[in-house]
Amino acid sequence: MRLKNKSALITGGTSGIGLATAKLFIAEGAKVAVTGRDEAVFDRVKAELGENSLVLKGDVRSLKDMRAIAAEVKEKFGGLDVVFANAGWAFPSPLNDIDEQLYSEIMDINVKGVVFTLQAVLPDLREGSSVILNTSFVDQTGKHGISLTAAAKAAVRSLARSWSYEFLDRKIRFNAIAPGATETPLIGRWGMADEDVRNLKVELAKAIPVGHMGRAEDIAYAALYLASDESSYVVGTELVVDGGASQL
Ligand SMILES: NC(=O)c1ccc[n+]([C@@H]2O[C@H](COP(=O)([O-])OP(=O)(O)OC[C@H]3O[C@@H](n4cnc5c(N)ncnc54)[C@H](OP(=O)(O)O)[C@@H]3O)[C@@H](O)[C@H]2O)c1
Repeated sequence: MRLKNKSALITGGTSGIGLATAKLFIAEGAKVAVTGRDEAVFDRVKAELGENSLVLKGDVRSLKDMRAIAAEVKEKFGGLDVVFANAGWAFPSPLNDIDEQLYSEIMDINVKGVVFTLQAVLPDLREGSSVILNTSFVDQTGKHGISLTAAAKAAVRSLARSWSYEFLDRKIRFNAIAPGATETPLIGRWGMADEDVRNLKVELAKAIPVGHMGRAEDIAYAALYLASDESSYVVGTELVVDGGASQL
């Protein structure tokens, strides 16, 4: 019960890494609020997470939505000990294919979304809180065709450092997690045929030193460490969980 008596907010907690993390946090004793936009999955997610969960609708790009979510979390939980700013979007973006819509989507969901999530919940963060920002292994090195996502995640990685300084006096720790290629529904949302998705995952796995994609649970365990008091001396860092892809 490493998160006993703690309350957590996980944006983008209705799928993939966020959902796996919510399950683990609840198993470790936390009450967890998860957010997402697609209400069609809310009943299933609530059934999977159980009574110690809240499933809330909101777009991280909207300060109005995030303020409403913060108010509901405050009312139900009283305050927050952990925030996992996890909601994000990645999409292939060779320079010549970038249009204003793609630019806005990637930058706004990943960067604006993190800024407004944190701004909305800031008054409710208890002393000693842990905030975890979800970045990506692509912010570490150059990768072909994913430049916008890499740039957005590099900005988020930078926010973890700056905010660590800004909130030292409140003893709020900010850290980042950089997942590598991880088995979640994300790539399946790119509009490709199922077979192409499968082939792409095989190609991705070949480029990973340990030989396979990560599981959402691999990232959840890293988030658990950063969320718990075991990491109380870890501030402003980025924990890379990528099977060695950016390091070897
Ligand atoms: N999977 C990977 O290989 C990988 C690698 C590196 C980093 N990451 C990062 O890990 C995080 C989670 O990704 P995932 O793979 O778990 O993806 P996923 O399975 O597609 O889950 C994404 C979650 O974010 C929510 N979301 C997306 N846009 C949102 C918005 N504008 N407002 C609120 N919620 C939003 C989604 O719900 P709705 O669509 O209903 O809003 C969903 O709950 C992202 O930040 C991603 O960039 C993933």
